[in-house]
Amino acid sequence: MQLEQKSLNAFLEAVKKLDNGFAALPQFSAIPYDETRLLEVLQATAERLQDNYPYFHPLYAGQMLKPPHPIARLAYALAMWINPNNHALDGGRASSAMEKEAVAEIASMFGWNNFLGHLCGGGTIANLEALWVAGQLHPGKKILASAQAHYTHQRISSVLKLEFESVPVDSQARMDIDALRKRLQRGDVGTVVATMGTTATGSVDPLPEILALRDKFAFRIHADAAYGGYFGLVDNLADNAKSAFARISELDSIVIDPHKHGLQPYGCGCVLFRDPSVGSLYKHDSPYTYFSSAELHLGEISLECSRPGASAAALWATQKLLPLVKHGEFAQRLERGRSAALALYEKTTADDRFLTSFGPELDIVVFAPRGASVSEVSAKSRAIFAAAAERGLHLALADLPVSFFPGLPAGVHGDNETMTCLRSVLMKPEHLDWVDRIWQILASATDASQTPKIASGSTGQY
Ligand SMILES: Cc1ncc(COP(=O)(O)O)c(C=O)c1O
Repeated sequence: MQLEQKSLNAFLEAVKKLDNGFAALPQFSAIPYDETRLLEVLQATAERLQDNYPYFHPLYAGQMLKPPHPIARLAYALAMWINPNNHALDGGRASSAMEKEAVAEIASMFGWNNFLGHLCGGGTIANLEALWVAGQLHPGKKILASAQAHYTHQRISSVLKLEFESVPVDSQARMDIDALRKRLQRGDVGTVVATMGTTATGSVDPLPEILALRDKFAFRIHADAAYGGYFGLVDNLADNAKSAFARISELDSIVIDPHKHGLQPYGCGCVLFRDPSVGSLYKHDSPYTYFSSAELHLGEISLECSRPGASAAALWATQKLLPLVKHGEFAQRLERGRSAALALYEKTTADDRFLTSFGPELDIVVFAPRGASVSEVSAKSRAIFAAAAERGLHLALADLPVSFFPGLPAGVHGDNETMTCLRSVLMKPEHLDWVDRIWQILASATDASQTPKIASGSTGQY
């Protein structure tokens, strides 16, 4: 972790600037706090926080975790001096305006100028909101998502009392179009969730084909682009993902998580609707919140009540520094992560010790050590995961269908449908410079763990 003294100095200047805006207020004495005790507790907090994986470092190449950009950290902390609440203009006037501007920039990245949208707690809440709208527009109809869609779609549907079914995936972990077509023929589907970057492998559902089916069967399409949404800006996508992102503006709703690839602290998801008239579904009366103006209060178009204005300030500042445009610095950072994933994929493919799956569509690579049986492959994956961690390289594990690994010798998988594999999300731009180092540690961990032993490791996905 680099202590950014310069940015801390800039931060203090910004706090002074913010304070100046309130200089006309009469002085008051805040209830004092015990400074010594505060410092002690802060040190204790720092000590407790040391018990974490080094998420900010390129050798953390496991789960979908990315450090916020310094501007996001600083702008968030700056906003804490005010602690605005973006529920209503009464609670966060400036930060509500910043939210509207930042969300409009995200919508414009998807080609939408006239839309409805706002920030929320994260991808789960954003998807909940999108499916809540979908359920109201198609009451009694089913929600479909692929078997590799994020697990929360099923849970959200159950919360909303909407029936959910999953559609099988093909050998590349994308929604199987033939299976979808067959399922649609029954005529009871209201909404199809297209995942634009699955959590486990980064696979992108075949949007042009799903859109062609919409022409025939008339259903809503919601894009879960929580993780993958920003990849529409990059130049180094392969054909399927490129053609999918090229059609995203034709969908009914989109979820994207600034707290994944958008360089934001946690607590920042975003939901967008192409048709702004869905805002009428949120209509409610509140006798106590909206009294300061007739202008839109964001609480009138969001399911949550209180929401952090600091998230909006951080996102606004980040997008001012790194605009969401093709060929810009933000897009180039994403391209670097994707190039890192392609480079690691090439190395694992060229090495006899590993069994590879399909190539990365975005910046996630999955691979497994070779073994005589699925249980041996799984045990070896766990052993390498542990040996790599001992050497300072943090990967992730994932239980994936054996059908994703066409190189598995026939008969090896027996009755097993899934096996434990290694997974690496190379989402930091610095990963590109670290691929060789990551590979060296991985190779040494693989050699050191030749004798399989069961090691503990979480396959939980974020
Ligand atoms: C595709 C996808 N959708 C939804 C989610 C849930 O998002 P959150 O963790 O922000 O609630 C995730 C999380 O990884 C995801 O990858």
